[in-house]
Amino acid sequence: MQPLIRAINNHLASEFQASHAYLAMSIWLREKDLAGFSQYMLQKSNEERGHASRMITYLVDCDAEVELPTIQAPQRQWDSVQHLFDQVAEMEREVTASINRLYAMADDAGDRSASSMLDWFVEEQIQEEAEARFVRKRLRLAGDNAAALLLLDQQFLEGTALAFVKGQAGAGGAA
Ligand SMILES: [Fe+2]
Ligand SMILES: [Fe+2]
Repeated sequence: MQPLIRAINNHLASEFQASHAYLAMSIWLREKDLAGFSQYMLQKSNEERGHASRMITYLVDCDAEVELPTIQAPQRQWDSVQHLFDQVAEMEREVTASINRLYAMADDAGDRSASSMLDWFVEEQIQEEAEARFVRKRLRLAGDNAAALLLLDQQFLEGTALAFVKGQAGAGGAA
C-alpha cells in the first residue's frame, strides 16, 4: 500500500474511535439526565462516522484499498461534564494533528486530489476545536452552579448553545 493511502487508512481509526468515544459520552450524559448534552454528543458521534465515510468514499473513488480498523472500547465514566469536555478538546486536537500530518504527506507527494479531499477536514477541525473551546469556557463559567449547567443543557436541547460558534464557519459542522 502506498504510504499516503496507508496513512489515510490509519486515520480512519481516529474518526471511528472518536465516534465510539462520543457515543459513550452521550450514554453517560443521558444517565445523568443531561438530555441536551447527550443529544449533542450523539450528533457528534454520527458526524465522526460521516467523516470516516467521507474518507472511505475517497479511497474507493481512487481505486485504493480500504482496511477498517479495530476500535477499542471507550472510557465510560467521567468525574464531571467539565472533565468530559476536556477529553473532547484533547481528542479533537489529536485529530487535527493527524489531519495536518496527512496534509503534509499529500503536499510532499504532490497529490492534489488528496490535498483537495483534506481541505474539507482542515475546515471541519477549525469548527470542531472552536466548539470544544466554547463549551469548555461556558462550563468553566458555570462552575459548580447546577442552574447554569442546566441552562446550557437546555440550550443544547433547543439547538441554540452553539449558535455563535456555528455562525463563524457556516455549515462547517453540518456533515
Ligand atoms: Fe472527525
Ligand atoms: Fe471531530
